[in-house]
Amino acid sequence: MPFPLTRLRRLRRSSAWRSLVRETTLAPGDFIWPIFVRPGKRVRRPVASMPGVFQFSVDEAAREAAEAFRLGIRAVILFGIPAVKDARGSGAYDPKGGVPQAIRAIRVAVPELVVMADVCCCEYTDHGHCGILDKARTEVDNDATLAVLAQAAVAYAAAGAQCVAPSAMMDGQVRSIREALDRDGRGDVAVLAYAAKFASGFYGPFRDAAESPPKFGDRSGYQMDPANIREALREIESDREEGADLVMVKPALAYLDVIRAARERTDLPLCAYNVSGEYSMIKAAAERGWCDERRCALEVLTAIRRAGADAILTYWAKDAAKWIG
Ligand code: PBG
Repeated sequence: MPFPLTRLRRLRRSSAWRSLVRETTLAPGDFIWPIFVRPGKRVRRPVASMPGVFQFSVDEAAREAAEAFRLGIRAVILFGIPAVKDARGSGAYDPKGGVPQAIRAIRVAVPELVVMADVCCCEYTDHGHCGILDKARTEVDNDATLAVLAQAAVAYAAAGAQCVAPSAMMDGQVRSIREALDRDGRGDVAVLAYAAKFASGFYGPFRDAAESPPKFGDRSGYQMDPANIREALREIESDREEGADLVMVKPALAYLDVIRAARERTDLPLCAYNVSGEYSMIKAAAERGWCDERRCALEVLTAIRRAGADAILTYWAKDAAKWIG
């Protein structure tokens, strides 16, 4: 036998060979594009900490969603920045709020697109936490928050959202939302559970984009400890029991092992959130000429798919769709 015995390089010799033996694919239909909605008309406000990301007014959001659809993207997820915030986060369930308006406008502009709405209080509360505070105003009151989340989910469903995505990490949020949707005759609306959402430093730029940093303390009383993988699987299991249609691991990059474990444990569709910090660190390095944005972004997105995610929430959705188009 000639040496070496194994010749793996034979199948790497041309782009045709490589595409023939490629194990993981990336397509525009795998992406869910996050859109930030703010009040006003013809507003496209750049987010300083996320180059290439904007807060859009409703009219611009609808235009952008139509463009995303033309690029092959099949789902968007909406986040709202309200004009006023209060202790209860009542803007979250205002049927005339930015998110319901944007849902309606996008459904009219692009009826085939799946419109998802993030369900949380942090953009809407004056204290910046993901739920309502208890009497001492030191902690988030789990059960009082459930009613607000359910009301918000119903408002988004009534506006036409085909999917609601609770991200507050309250226990029981999936069940309370599922029950509220069903009571309201919204049995067709799916729930995407931010099941394993970790208390992460990689959300930093998002809090700038959504104007939602907590005014005191942090979110580690409700989001997960980055050290825990077994607990992540329990979160996924309990969200499935509560009626989740899809589950998510978030962030993605520092949690590829969690994505893999989740993939092996559940047959529900699995999403992963390639979060703001994961986006901005590559953007920042690329701006300095330290790495090639397109190459690194596609490598990251491929890795998230390889780990086992079906769909990826990513700020690169439109760029990546063009790159792989
Ligand atoms: C909370 C929410 C956050 C993100 C999505 N939904 C931020 C947080 O928990 O502080 C982060 C997304 C990102 O960083 O891209 N509703």
